[in-house]
Amino acid sequence: MAAARRPLMAGNWKMNGLGASIAELSRIIGGFDAALSARIDCLICPPATLIAAFAARAKGSPVAIGAQDCHPGAAVAFTGDLSAEMWKDAGASAIIVGHSERRAGHGESDALVRAKAAAAFRAGLLAIVCVGESKAEREAKRTLEVVGRQLAGSIPDGATPQRLVVAYEPVWAIGSGLTPTAADVSEVHGMVRGELVKRFGAGAGATRVLYGGSVKAENAAALLKAAEVDGALVGGASLKAKEFLSISNVYI
Ligand code: PGA
Repeated sequence: MAAARRPLMAGNWKMNGLGASIAELSRIIGGFDAALSARIDCLICPPATLIAAFAARAKGSPVAIGAQDCHPGAAVAFTGDLSAEMWKDAGASAIIVGHSERRAGHGESDALVRAKAAAAFRAGLLAIVCVGESKAEREAKRTLEVVGRQLAGSIPDGATPQRLVVAYEPVWAIGSGLTPTAADVSEVHGMVRGELVKRFGAGAGATRVLYGGSVKAENAAALLKAAEVDGALVGGASLKAKEFLSISNVYI
């Protein structure tokens, strides 16, 4: 029997948040009461400038702090970049890699995403690897092929359910208010899990697969309760504690 998968609610703050935003983090921590934290994990990924302060504030709470990207190297001459080891040192326990905004906006290839995920493994951090098709690819019925290819290219060897989370984020659903149907999400998540089991063995069936793209309080129940969905990677709706908590409370 497959091990039970504990849901993960992850907030991706992208390029939002200033020092004063620690008050919003405090509200999120305050809302993660005993009932909620007994059922699900919570991760907030603020911009680089806030990682250390957020990690200090969240210490001892049910909320973990994650980064949004890393350089694949450990200590190399690369002006402006940050390593997985630096994130760990600052208090992060996870790193999002391969978000479509970086794949598209910074030309990140599957090979680079794979190297970044390997860097997270190397530092002992959880890698959240993002995959997802474009609108044209969905319309051409190429979703499973595209996501399958991204998955094969972006996940490093040595992935385990403790080190890896996959986030399925259709590019056309991000920030658009559009979402796939629950059945479409389940189909992709089932394929992702099947591919992980094929490559890494039966134990990989316990890897969490998150859905991301326009998750809001109104659609959270339908998306998060769909088969094969183990939580969400939430962008815009994670910036306000009230909204993020009402999405999370779908699990209560
Ligand atoms: P969104 O972003 O929830 O604002 O659509 C999700 C993401 O990009 O991770």
